[in-house]
Amino acid sequence: MCGIVGILGRGAVAPLVVDALKRLEYRGYDSAGVATLENGHLERRRAEGKLRNLELKLSHAPLTGAIGIGHTRWATHGRPNETNAHPHATDKLAVVHNGIIENFRALRDDLQAKGVVFDTETDTEVVAQLVTDELRQGRSPTEAVAATLPKLRGAFALVFLFEGEEDQLIGARHGAPLAIGYGEGEMYFGSDALALAPFTDEISYLEDGDWAVLSRSGATIRDAQGHPVERARQTIPAGSAVASKGNHRHFMAKEIYEQPEVVGRTIAHYVDFSRCAVRLPELPFSFRDVSRLSISACGTAYYAGLVARYWFERLARLPVEIDVASEFRYREVPLDPGQVALFVSQSGETADTLASLRYAKDQGQHTLAVVNVPTSTMARDSAVVAPTLAGPEIGVASTKAFTCQLSVLLALAIGAGRQRGTLTEADERRLVEVLAAVPSLMTEALRSEGEIETVSREIAKAKDVLYLGRGTSYPLALEGALKLKEISYIHAEGYAAGELKHGPIALIDEAMPVIVIAPHDAVFEKTVSNMQEVAARGGRILLITDRRGAAEAAMDTMSTLVMPDCDPVVAPLVFAVPAQLLAYHTAVFMGKDVDQPRNLAKSVTVE
Ligand code: AGP
Repeated sequence: MCGIVGILGRGAVAPLVVDALKRLEYRGYDSAGVATLENGHLERRRAEGKLRNLELKLSHAPLTGAIGIGHTRWATHGRPNETNAHPHATDKLAVVHNGIIENFRALRDDLQAKGVVFDTETDTEVVAQLVTDELRQGRSPTEAVAATLPKLRGAFALVFLFEGEEDQLIGARHGAPLAIGYGEGEMYFGSDALALAPFTDEISYLEDGDWAVLSRSGATIRDAQGHPVERARQTIPAGSAVASKGNHRHFMAKEIYEQPEVVGRTIAHYVDFSRCAVRLPELPFSFRDVSRLSISACGTAYYAGLVARYWFERLARLPVEIDVASEFRYREVPLDPGQVALFVSQSGETADTLASLRYAKDQGQHTLAVVNVPTSTMARDSAVVAPTLAGPEIGVASTKAFTCQLSVLLALAIGAGRQRGTLTEADERRLVEVLAAVPSLMTEALRSEGEIETVSREIAKAKDVLYLGRGTSYPLALEGALKLKEISYIHAEGYAAGELKHGPIALIDEAMPVIVIAPHDAVFEKTVSNMQEVAARGGRILLITDRRGAAEAAMDTMSTLVMPDCDPVVAPLVFAVPAQLLAYHTAVFMGKDVDQPRNLAKSVTVE
């Protein structure tokens, strides 16, 4: 949820820290700060709001120290203001923190009973005071951190800088990612490889419970028991870490337009075009032996899972249990050992989804992760990884990751159908051909951007918007509503079209646009009936359909967006494009911060 970085440099590190923080802003941007040693003494610069506010402060009051730490924040404890901005410090150290210390209140009470006075509302300051308390008892920085870590409960990553210690940074990882970067006479900590890409491509990732002491000559890593351990050093290609907008105004626009390419790349990873057959990842089980598939994810990834439920049940006749991860992890779902649990995540670091993964492993499930970051915790902790090849997704609103997730999930469902004998070779060939056509269909769907931009001006006037869909268009209605609400801040709700008459129809009036996602599939006529129910009550409809649907619907709408005709099985991938573009243009027209919407972060690594 926050981004943290530490640099042991050869010259002034503050500009490098800020550069790294820019690459971590997608993790949160409520406030930012840097701390360095100036002639051995701790100095901090912190600012509320975007990173540019910190840069301005540094331009007026530069820091020149050759060792420093930095932080960009998504507020969990304490208001997003300068007082609560990291780094937090005492007279002996400064610390930056990503995650939540769940038992911070009890720890704070103990310290206050010892006379410690706190300046902030944050859980992080409790950590700073705990380590300082150990230092005051004569322990070294390493001993003080080692004594403190076992007291902390929750998911966190920490990096410490100590007064007078010009060649030492200490970092710890417990549930939130932390990487070590190896430079030439320089060393780094960072929340991920992207942050460190300008400095090094030699990265190693700490495992849960690890903590590391860095000096300019290298790293000493210890596990939770204090035993020295090695963590593999990987070369992360710089290209995979570099993110730029290209010729687009926003990352979100760039990533919407990247979809034909990255979906094509992802599909190619799962299809043997020479055999017109699906290529499943190496599985420690056969879907033939699976009686129930559990799916767990959050947000947009959850909606991808909802679409996949239709595919697994229809193509592979495999019953699916699906829930949002924040519910799944606490429901104590009874799972028979040896079944399969599937997790969908762009970041691979979403706390709720990771917790569901751990629950499923404890229940003896085969775990399968559809994830976009191959070095993420979820990728490392799952028995099988089915990667999406979307590349770095910087826009907080997920777009290309969603359609790449759908691509992988459809391939898995086809493969499952073959293993379970519910699909013949001929079925598989047909479905693979349908899947292979998706990139060009998405390219054609993108051509409707002009009309979408026009109608988005109408949507921008609304206070409430209702999205309707049936079958696999129902999860798409949910996703379309999420896209709109999270970047335009207009209240939007997705609903199963068949449910309209069971309550939501009371909302219908001319002020609330009703967006209907309806490819010409087996339930199209049913959806047309729902549209007539809306029209009869003065509701205004934006219909998103295909050529056949437009010809058959034949009713008055505020607008009809016509997508290319496509096989209904891949409609969710094609119809995701107009839903994304509609949200994007509405938010742009309203002047919203499309790539970094308020209150959000790209990766929710806390509960
Ligand atoms: C999607 O637009 C949102 N940013 C959010 O719902 C996101 O999908 C969710 O937090 C899950 O993230 P993940 O895919 O990285 O696990």
